[in-house]
Amino acid sequence: MRNSRRSFLQKTMLGSALGFGFQPEGFANVLTAVSQFDASQTPIDIASNEDFWSTVQAAYAMDRTFINLNNGGVSPSPREVMDSVKRYMDYTNSAPARNLWSQLEPNAETVREKLARMFGCSAEEIAITRNASESLQSIQLGMNLKAGDEVLTTTHDYPRMITTWEQRVRRDGIVLKKAEYPAPLMNPEDFVKAIEKEITSKTKVIHISHVPFCSGQINPVRLVCRLAKSRGIECIVDGAHAFAQFPFTQKDLECDYYGASLHKWLSAPIGTGMLYVKKEKIKDIWPLMAAPKEMDDNIRKFEEIGTHPAALHNAIADAVTFCNGIGLERKAARLRYIHHRWIDRLKQYPNVKFLQHIDDESNWCGLVLFNIDGMDGGKIGDYLLSKHRIITTPITYADIKGVRITPNVYTTLSEIDYFADVLETIAKGQVKEVMAAAK
Ligand SMILES: Cc1ncc(COP(=O)(O)O)c(C=O)c1O
Repeated sequence: MRNSRRSFLQKTMLGSALGFGFQPEGFANVLTAVSQFDASQTPIDIASNEDFWSTVQAAYAMDRTFINLNNGGVSPSPREVMDSVKRYMDYTNSAPARNLWSQLEPNAETVREKLARMFGCSAEEIAITRNASESLQSIQLGMNLKAGDEVLTTTHDYPRMITTWEQRVRRDGIVLKKAEYPAPLMNPEDFVKAIEKEITSKTKVIHISHVPFCSGQINPVRLVCRLAKSRGIECIVDGAHAFAQFPFTQKDLECDYYGASLHKWLSAPIGTGMLYVKKEKIKDIWPLMAAPKEMDDNIRKFEEIGTHPAALHNAIADAVTFCNGIGLERKAARLRYIHHRWIDRLKQYPNVKFLQHIDDESNWCGLVLFNIDGMDGGKIGDYLLSKHRIITTPITYADIKGVRITPNVYTTLSEIDYFADVLETIAKGQVKEVMAAAK
């Protein structure tokens, strides 16, 4: 999909006019970049257009004494998003009982609409939550399951979500099973086969990650959703790491339940998440916090959480506008371009391994993990941070050992090139601190 300059201007000006947060002066730089950009260029062309990306980089108020390559855990918001949060907070505080409940809170409906458009579904299927944990636990704890029912997840799923199922094992006597599959995943069918192998007549739920936090690979969600449906099994998709990282919609996934963090790849304020539930499934799920019977069929029952800051969820609208301004095709192409800057240098070293099938770009996007033979990922992470102020994510989980690298649209090429320089010295065995830790 290509965004012409005109449609970008229309979108952003509309955002300002409706008061969704972009300040004219705050947006000036981005508009300048877009005016220089030739609309006939493809996302791949734009991926290496530094005029375009330098203005995106400037939209974030980062501490550039760090090189932040952990945007997977949680991401910063652009200035415009933070301006809205602050503005809404001040407005709330100036007359809280009126401004919070009767002025700001109803505007969450606009946010619901924007998220629904992004995910390609009805606004009546989107709940705005505080994070992916809340979204997913709403489904995990809200589904009617009885003792002996089996839930099937994988060894690469997120620890908190596994803890949630384990609590139901203790509380309700359900049975939790975990499928194992390889990373890198050389063939998407291997993932589906690993799941299918563990299905029994008692399997009631399949719970998978769209992008597992520990491997970064993009799982073939639609194939698993289809498999689940063909066997009458519910399928919960953990999209914490996928939503707004690369383009897809609910229709591409064919999922019935999808939980996402918005403070990761969407760069929305910290403390924001999204839950999708297919319309006809809503009535059968109990919300985490009680809601009145009249709301049984209403997606808003998942938002009955008591008093909370509307500033955070209303500023999601700014994050969506910012993300749409860049365009998800362009964002995904840029993330892969940034990764290739270091991967292509490091892959010449036989001791450096990747946990993605690097030659198949449909298998990965914003998250790439590497490890170096005989070296401890934790020590590599410590060294990068303490000596070079590079923030990464060492991960040891299930069969995975690696260092996770997650740049963002604000990452500069000089930052990623510096990281590659340092990593090359490590791969060549020139860094004593890391060598001393070799097993
Ligand atoms: C795969 C996965 N699921 C769920 C979560 C929980 O997300 P949140 O902290 O937004 O609740 C994370 C967080 O990193 C994750 O990686």
